[in-house]
Amino acid sequence: MKKGKILLVGFGPGSKEDMTYRAREAIASADVVIGYTTYIKLVEDLLDGKEVIRKGMTEEIDRCVEAYEQAKLGKVVAMVSSGDIGIYGMAGPTYEVLFQSGWRPGDDIEVEIVTGSTALSACASLVGAPLTHDFCSISLSDLLTPWPVIANRLTAAARADFVVALYNPKSGRRTKQIVEAQRILLQHRKPDTPVAIVKSAYRKSQSIRMVRLDEMADCDIGMLSTVLIGNSSTFLRDNLMITPRGYANKYDSLTGETREGERAGRSLGMGLLGWKSYVRSYLREFPDYSLQAVVRYFDMPFEEILLAISDASADDTAGEFSAMCAVDASQLLSEVKNWGRLRAVVRSGNAVSEMMLGGADLALCGDRLKVENEHFHLHVDWSRVARTWLVMRADKNYGAYFIDSNGEVVFKLSLVTKDGASAQRYKQSWQLLGEPQEMNHE
Ligand SMILES: C[S@@+](CC[C@H](N)C(=O)[O-])C[C@H]1O[C@@H](n2cnc3c(N)ncnc32)[C@H](O)[C@@H]1O
Repeated sequence: MKKGKILLVGFGPGSKEDMTYRAREAIASADVVIGYTTYIKLVEDLLDGKEVIRKGMTEEIDRCVEAYEQAKLGKVVAMVSSGDIGIYGMAGPTYEVLFQSGWRPGDDIEVEIVTGSTALSACASLVGAPLTHDFCSISLSDLLTPWPVIANRLTAAARADFVVALYNPKSGRRTKQIVEAQRILLQHRKPDTPVAIVKSAYRKSQSIRMVRLDEMADCDIGMLSTVLIGNSSTFLRDNLMITPRGYANKYDSLTGETREGERAGRSLGMGLLGWKSYVRSYLREFPDYSLQAVVRYFDMPFEEILLAISDASADDTAGEFSAMCAVDASQLLSEVKNWGRLRAVVRSGNAVSEMMLGGADLALCGDRLKVENEHFHLHVDWSRVARTWLVMRADKNYGAYFIDSNGEVVFKLSLVTKDGASAQRYKQSWQLLGEPQEMNHE
């Protein structure tokens, strides 16, 4: 018997011109074409002489099973889907059905995926150049995905300043998801962030609207719309939505001179190798800033700033700061007890608690660090402490930071009395707990 084959074909946004040559050839080579009724209509002119199996929108798994059954009979089956069949498309469910049926690659039935232009790139091409920097796509369909998962992805994308493409933004029944998405995105993006709403791209009923993020949810959006939301640098000019590629970070103008400190073809000064040195120059330039302010400015985990400080050298100091990762957290805790009067600082959201204590008020009990005296009672989850750091600010501040696995501060202890003796004890702990290293300040 002839070997069966399943061709998973993405035919692009919907117009003939945007279908790839390979997609056309794949459909031409098929004995059977399977697809959602609307998709079949979009490739109707290629179906002469073929067996056509039309399925409804909710019959996705049926389509996969049908493709498998037909291929088992030795037929070439083309499963067609709009855009790219591997993007929110039938490629995944088909493989799942095949594997569940015991199929393995190399078996009797061959599977081939034919890529197509996905909605986000098709839609982007109609509104300018919104995707020329990092972007992500999020489907607002909660038919198969729990809303908390979708909401967390929206928050993460918004916070990380991705350009966001929303697939499945709204349907007759799912009308509130786009409202909720707008609310979440507005927590991290400006209300006037440019948004493009593209409906039925490259199809007869194509329509495009450029709006602001705070207007998005009130617009006409449907099942066939893709919504493109700009990042913090995206701008709208002459109704074109443009996301800068980043040339302005390196050059004075697109074709102009390289900016001071930058080199063509090399990572930016603020690239992986350079940004920590930039942190140090920032600390030198703004000697009055707190570490918290510096962390806020760079929007990086606290420990990244400490790493930048600890990399300082005589000709690239971190201003008044020195930092050293202490090797053993429990040992640091016993050292701290010898320092003298201490201040414990715990941040929780926007609240900061500061407590004065002595070393005797600290007791480690299993997974808890108890900080107790007659004025307060504080329990710290010691299991969250992944690393500890000693941080000194000239001869003004001597601190110990207890850091979690994400590089954020669990709590901080600092020396209150800055008399010579306690400072001396602190410096002895520094020598004891890590590799002795040069102090970076005078
Ligand atoms: C199930 S997903 C399929 C995506 C498709 N596989 C792709 O790669 O474009 C359906 C969603 O894709 C988007 N979409 C598909 N075709 C589109 C078009 N021609 N214009 C705008 N959006 C489209 C819409 O967001 C729609 O709700």
